[in-house]
Amino acid sequence: MPTAVASPPVVFSEAALAKFRVLLTHYPEKHRRAALIPTLRLAQREFGCVSNEVIEYVAGLLGLAPVQVHEVVGFYTLFHREPPGKYHLQVCTNVSCMLNGSQKIVDHVCRRLGIRPDQKTADGKFSLETVECLASCGTAPVMMVNDTYCENLTTDAVDRILDDPERAGELWIPNEANYIRRWKTEDTLIVTRRFNNPDPVSLALYERDGGNAAWRKVLEEMKPDEVTEVVKQSGLVGRGGAGFSAGLKWSFIDRKSKEPHYLTVNADEGEPGTFKDRYLMEQDPHMFLEGASICSYAIGAHTAYVYIRGEFGKAQEIVQKAIDARTAAGLLGKNILGSGFDLDIHVHTGAGAYICGEETGLLESLEGKRGQPRSKPPFPAVIGLFQGPTIINNVETLANVPDIIVKGAAWFASIGVPKNTGTRMLTVSGHVMKPGYYELPLGIPLRTLIYDVCGGLRPGRQLAAVIPGGASSGWLLPSEIDVPMDFNSLRAAGSMAGSGAVMVIDDSVCLLKVLLRIEEFFQDESCGQCTPCREGTGWLARVLHKIEHGEGTKADIDLAFSIANNMAGITICVLSDAAAMPMQAVIKKFRPVLEAHVEHRGCPQTH
Ligand SMILES: Cc1cc2nc3c(=O)[nH]c(=O)nc-3n(C[C@H](O)[C@H](O)[C@H](O)COP(=O)(O)O)c2cc1C
Ligand code: SF4
Ligand code: FES
Repeated sequence: MPTAVASPPVVFSEAALAKFRVLLTHYPEKHRRAALIPTLRLAQREFGCVSNEVIEYVAGLLGLAPVQVHEVVGFYTLFHREPPGKYHLQVCTNVSCMLNGSQKIVDHVCRRLGIRPDQKTADGKFSLETVECLASCGTAPVMMVNDTYCENLTTDAVDRILDDPERAGELWIPNEANYIRRWKTEDTLIVTRRFNNPDPVSLALYERDGGNAAWRKVLEEMKPDEVTEVVKQSGLVGRGGAGFSAGLKWSFIDRKSKEPHYLTVNADEGEPGTFKDRYLMEQDPHMFLEGASICSYAIGAHTAYVYIRGEFGKAQEIVQKAIDARTAAGLLGKNILGSGFDLDIHVHTGAGAYICGEETGLLESLEGKRGQPRSKPPFPAVIGLFQGPTIINNVETLANVPDIIVKGAAWFASIGVPKNTGTRMLTVSGHVMKPGYYELPLGIPLRTLIYDVCGGLRPGRQLAAVIPGGASSGWLLPSEIDVPMDFNSLRAAGSMAGSGAVMVIDDSVCLLKVLLRIEEFFQDESCGQCTPCREGTGWLARVLHKIEHGEGTKADIDLAFSIANNMAGITICVLSDAAAMPMQAVIKKFRPVLEAHVEHRGCPQTH
């Protein structure tokens, strides 16, 4: 009889246990479950995957039933039930990468390794997965090799990486042109002004550049309500997507509540086409942490969490180091700078789910559950994290706050356009000569952005469409690009400014294919709670698939329109609206593209 090989016991090493114990200190004792996702990530690193045994072990550590852990593991894409290859390749196939040839990259990897997506090579060296946007769209096409980003990929670069995956980080071709952030030298830069500094974690360099002056001023001279009032007067609106006044939101915090108050920084950055918060955290973590400290003071929070997207390993490390430096310098912790105010900031890592960017999905996820959005009211400012009043702000929103405090509300309000003040990070990807992130005053015309800032289209190509605010926004016709890039103007144009992600599409690709990719994304990412969203996103993808593959009729186009019209404004969160908006816009403005597919019984364009 063959001797049974005993599998090693599932028990954390001393080092992992020490990390687990530190994790537990980040959350209130009666909310230990909040440590679940970071603990599962720790366990995955320790044991190679999250098997049933690992689930039972983690459940035991946190006093949960295994089924509670199972349901969480199944919700998030970064958990592996079986060990992936030694080098796990994730190739992004979302819109910006698709426009820049990601399918060629996937096909090439498959050919070279003799595997298909979701498979592993026989020797266990490589595994391949196609994934949604990795927040690196200006340097598309993009692949991650374990935690390392490989950008501007070519098939040659892929060959070099597969030959020597240990050096993946050095073997792709960095293209500095993609990082251009300044258009005119006289432009005001706020959140990117310290980019490319030699040591982003250094407090000395940050203070040399004027950093922490706002935090000191707030603690020494200002009452919480005064801080909120200045931010309100500045006209700063949230940069995460909804464009809501930051100061007004802070003023909604339920001051009478006896529960602890919280700030949660939304660093989940999953909207396809968006790649600003990752760079903000990697390039200048102190600026948004200073903003987060000021916000916490204004809303009476003594604990803040930075919820960072699971894939952003480098950003997680840099932000943690910056928090440690601030704590060591007495800028965080107890009795900060002798003011009597206490504040701790913790990094909390996600595990792969776009819906956790929605603010109440984020709170559920932070509490160690599936990231399913909550019905509102109550709004988080009244009942949020751990039942306490909570403010959720985007990284870029908070990064603007220190300068507003130091230079004043009027200074900030003088930049941009009335009611949409300040600068904004616009991340431009797709078919322009100079994709990248640019910090520009709100209200710059889209035409100027495409043709002057980003160097226009590729030679010989015509503009076909623009997606001006992330995958969730309504598409614009080439004739509509004189619109100013601010929240109100884009809303008036039937679209939205969203996350500032501008995707430019020329006439080399099939617009229907791009739309289908977007609707498949929403179908995958719907959390499934609401019928119009769960069923509607699937229907939209299926009808578009049918039309794209030559089996559609004109009645199918009307069907898609009516499905989309029945998805908006009636669900728990606006992911359903986000799926409907591009569909509605394409049918209203680009109907001939869909009809041509019906008439030609398939795609009339050759690629
Ligand atoms: C499906 C969905 C995904 C979202 N993803 C993000 C995100 O990744 N980052 C973000 O800051 N806001 C995201 N939001 C917006 C947040 O719900 C929220 O409005 C924002 O974090 C508030 O911060 P702000 O006021 O500073 O913009 C998302 C919203 C939805 C509906
Ligand atoms: S709209 Fe979609 S994503 Fe949002 S809660 Fe409902 S099912 Fe979930
Ligand atoms: S990184 Fe591929 S679409 Fe964003």
